[in-house]
Amino acid sequence: MYEVIGQVSRVLGPVIHAKGITKAQMLELVEVGEDRLIGEIVRLQGNEITVQVYEDTTGLAPGAKVYGSGMPLSVELGPGLLSSIYDGVQRPLEVIKAQSGQYIHRGVRIPSIDRQKKWSFTPVARAGDRIEPGQVLGTVQETEQVIHKIMAPPNISGEIKTMITEGEYTVETTIAVIKAASGENEISMIQRWPVRQGRPIQERLPSDIPLITGQRVIDTLFPVAKGGAVAVPGGFGTGKTMVEHQVAKWSDADVVVYIGCGERGNEITDVLQEFPKLTDPRSGRPLMERTILIANTSNMPVAAREASIYTGITMAEYYRDQGFHVAIMADSSSRWAEALRELSGRMEEMPAEEGFPAYLPTRLAEFYERAGMVKTLSGETGSVTIVGAVSPPGGDFSEPVTQHTKRFVRAFWALDRDLANARHYPAISWLDSYSEYVQDITPWWTENVDSEWPELRREILDLLQREERLQQVVKLVGADVLPDSQRLILDVCDLFKNAFLQQSAFDQIDTYATVQRQVKMLKIIVTYYRLGAEAIQQGATLMKLRRLRVLSELSKMKFSIANDEADKLDTLQQRLEREMRRLGEIYAGF
Ligand SMILES: Nc1ncnc2c1ncn2[C@@H]1O[C@H](COP(=O)(O)OP(=O)(O)OP(=O)(O)O)[C@@H](O)[C@H]1O
Ligand SMILES: [Mg+2]
Repeated sequence: MYEVIGQVSRVLGPVIHAKGITKAQMLELVEVGEDRLIGEIVRLQGNEITVQVYEDTTGLAPGAKVYGSGMPLSVELGPGLLSSIYDGVQRPLEVIKAQSGQYIHRGVRIPSIDRQKKWSFTPVARAGDRIEPGQVLGTVQETEQVIHKIMAPPNISGEIKTMITEGEYTVETTIAVIKAASGENEISMIQRWPVRQGRPIQERLPSDIPLITGQRVIDTLFPVAKGGAVAVPGGFGTGKTMVEHQVAKWSDADVVVYIGCGERGNEITDVLQEFPKLTDPRSGRPLMERTILIANTSNMPVAAREASIYTGITMAEYYRDQGFHVAIMADSSSRWAEALRELSGRMEEMPAEEGFPAYLPTRLAEFYERAGMVKTLSGETGSVTIVGAVSPPGGDFSEPVTQHTKRFVRAFWALDRDLANARHYPAISWLDSYSEYVQDITPWWTENVDSEWPELRREILDLLQREERLQQVVKLVGADVLPDSQRLILDVCDLFKNAFLQQSAFDQIDTYATVQRQVKMLKIIVTYYRLGAEAIQQGATLMKLRRLRVLSELSKMKFSIANDEADKLDTLQQRLEREMRRLGEIYAGF
């Protein structure tokens, strides 16, 4: 398959130049030198090429041969992806580690998907059937949770000539022969797809179902839709990774692709050690059974980091095409952008803002635009939701990666340094964050959870805004000069922040809140405001309100009432109403 297409002329770290090129294509996969290092053609000019190399190029010298593959950088797709841990160009890290230790030796070739493992295959289509691209040919129980659909590749249609019977087969076994106009195609359980090209779909669908994360500040205030894209910008240590982990663990995605681009080697090591031990809270099974991990450690070549987000999203699309809802986490996309910057520098390109290449926004768009709710080729509904962390240097959101990312996402969970310092976690700012998905997903909430959801949400956001303005006054002259009706707003917002927005990832009960629990808690807090305002109008004092016994129950309900005890929240709501009414009545008489 590979043939010599030219010779290395210059080596600049991960970037090499080659000349005397006989034939080559842009983005073609190549191998370089005796060790056959893998790389990708990123520039093609006359008979010269520039190659970005995914392995350590130390020792590579001018004169070394360059081998062309005639195809673009691609990933292997098939059963066995779930539970796997890959590097940015889909090398299976665990398998490599088992064979050759911590470091990936150069030129090591290990298939991305296990060739020996046998899968129990059940045919769905039969000989004689007419097959369209993407149509399901059969299924494999990939993990306890996931039934993997073996599909006809997106570019193949025709009549099934032969179909294998139910049985145990390896991924390379021919399971069907499809007779197409152009000839016969042997279909196995594996297909390849170029990473930089989105997989085809029938059509885009509206994103009107929320991705439920169980994180109150997200689901209630700044929701993301399934098929949406959201950015999580935050300075050093403000909780980006924690947010990504919580969404990976708790969201109602069927499949999670987690791309770790840590700068510090140990951050990724943490992920690699932690994830395999986690259990999926909804199924009780290992979380890895619905997860694919892509790890970029600092000792890996930058070019592999640059490729990793495309590798990840291609795998995400592949599961989407099977009718799954997939969530993809990139932590952090800034590290990816830095890889892009370094490669661009090595290629001696003209830098734009802060040294990033002028095509940074294009590349970001190419990634985020692959999110979406779609009708797949086989007519099913599937989605890819992107949650991209951004780590702006110095926490300054005006830098290029944050600013450009903002253009391509419709939700923004801004992590706030002051909140993090105050140990208010998740440190998602209620003033700087937003979600443009709210409108689209409101019907889902009103139909499935509570018809009052939009009203309650608006009311609390309005209170938070008013509180912000009141705080300006308080800063100048203190809270004492404010009338009780306004101090009540301060109290309610305090309560809302402590009892609702703050959510501990480490507390068994608090770490996840069902949508029912979220709405009930919100309603209780809003009721406290509504009835409190009434009581004050009738003459009660804020002091009296603060002394209500039920208040202490409110402030600890997130820890004391579990997801399956939501009816206790109804009881609490009734008790609150009773105590508040009684207070109002006392004063109404005067
Ligand atoms: N929801 C949460 N509940 C409890 N603690 C939290 C929560 N979110 C963040 N923290 C605390 O904040 C710390 C830092 O969070 P995290 O590592 O996610 O930050 P980061 O923004 O990813 O940092 P870095 O910039 O180093 O990547 C955590 O170790 C944890 O102690
Ligand atoms: Mg982090």
